[in-house]
Amino acid sequence: MPKDTVVKPATVTCTAPVNIAVVKYWGKRNEGLILPINSSLSVTLHQDQLKTTTTVASCRSFQEDRIWLNGKEEDINHPRLQSCLREIRRLARKRRNDGDSSVDVGCLSHKVHICSVNNFPTAAGLASSAAGFACLVYTLAKVYGVDGELSGIARQGSGSACRSMYGGFVQWIMGEREDGKDSVAQQVEPESHWPDLRVLVLVASAERKPVGSTAGMQTSVETSSLLKHRAESVVPDRMKQMIEAVHKKDFATFAELTMRDSNQFHATCLDTFPPIFYLNTVSRHVISLVHQYNRHYGAARVAYTFDAGPNAVIYTLQQHVAEFLQVVRLVFPPDNNNGKTFLTGLQVEPVEISEELKNAICLEPMSKGISYIISTQAGPGPRVLEDPSQHLLGPDGLPKTDA
Ligand code: DP6
Repeated sequence: MPKDTVVKPATVTCTAPVNIAVVKYWGKRNEGLILPINSSLSVTLHQDQLKTTTTVASCRSFQEDRIWLNGKEEDINHPRLQSCLREIRRLARKRRNDGDSSVDVGCLSHKVHICSVNNFPTAAGLASSAAGFACLVYTLAKVYGVDGELSGIARQGSGSACRSMYGGFVQWIMGEREDGKDSVAQQVEPESHWPDLRVLVLVASAERKPVGSTAGMQTSVETSSLLKHRAESVVPDRMKQMIEAVHKKDFATFAELTMRDSNQFHATCLDTFPPIFYLNTVSRHVISLVHQYNRHYGAARVAYTFDAGPNAVIYTLQQHVAEFLQVVRLVFPPDNNNGKTFLTGLQVEPVEISEELKNAICLEPMSKGISYIISTQAGPGPRVLEDPSQHLLGPDGLPKTDA
């Protein structure tokens, strides 16, 4: 082939984080635009442990938009995917028409190939759609040369994805406008603000896949009066208190609000008709364990929160991690035969726990209840990977064999 007819794709690769809400989003007032009935607040987890990586290639020789997720080609016509693609392209066109020279005009008429992978098992039931859509929107924006407020577009992929557009402590302001323009995420504090804060993801061995959040929250909006009460009368004050607790690094308040909010979210699930059960016996065992541990010390040293599944996410402080982990090992004896390490992520040195503490924990050990634990901390928002060897798509625009 003559040299001048070889068209090389413009390729960008980025990573984006998972976030775990401490004031939960549950319920939409507009399904299409993904506008919530209440504001929410989350902690962005560190990408060293949990992240999505996405490569977008744009080329004039591509015949159609295509997407590969975790090694498998998926339908590009998924409505939420289409919303994100359409909105980013619309924004790029608008910026170009407004005279922004950084917008890549050539790219705008080209089709894209998208390839995305998670560094954690999707089956672990972690909020993979948040990291996935945040990464998609961030990477597309880099390809087209648009920056600035992008969380409103990520929101249209998956509500919680808007919070993964920033690092640290992030609020999603519900907004009031019908067009959703004011329903965006904002950073409350960066990840460096609270260096002692630690996160443990306790991956529960789930028997079956629970009801998805999109369908679950729809039924809650239709049937739960508790959800309405929560959105109107509880969350507005709770958001203020939570933001203040984060600003002041007041762990006791942060912990209590986090647990209360998780409990209320699961109470609205139970108030949904027919009811939705996300917590299982392992989850309830973790809840009891945390309360017994805190009661022993007469202080909230550890907090739990649960999303739309049985996994517990624990927030605590650096000085308590090792001891609390030891208590978890006692109550959930690890299954040493599963060939996996029980604790992954940030290293934690084992410690001895006192007889008093052991006696204070009155729970039957539940072996194999927790399959593994990811130890992590708050982390930064999406990033560009500059090294071309990290692209998931090859020069032909197709996934590299190991992507
Ligand atoms: C329980 O963002 O997954 O994790 O907007 O329908 O995609 P859709 O829902 P999603 O819901 C997340 C619900 C939650 C709470 C939270 O992250 O705030």
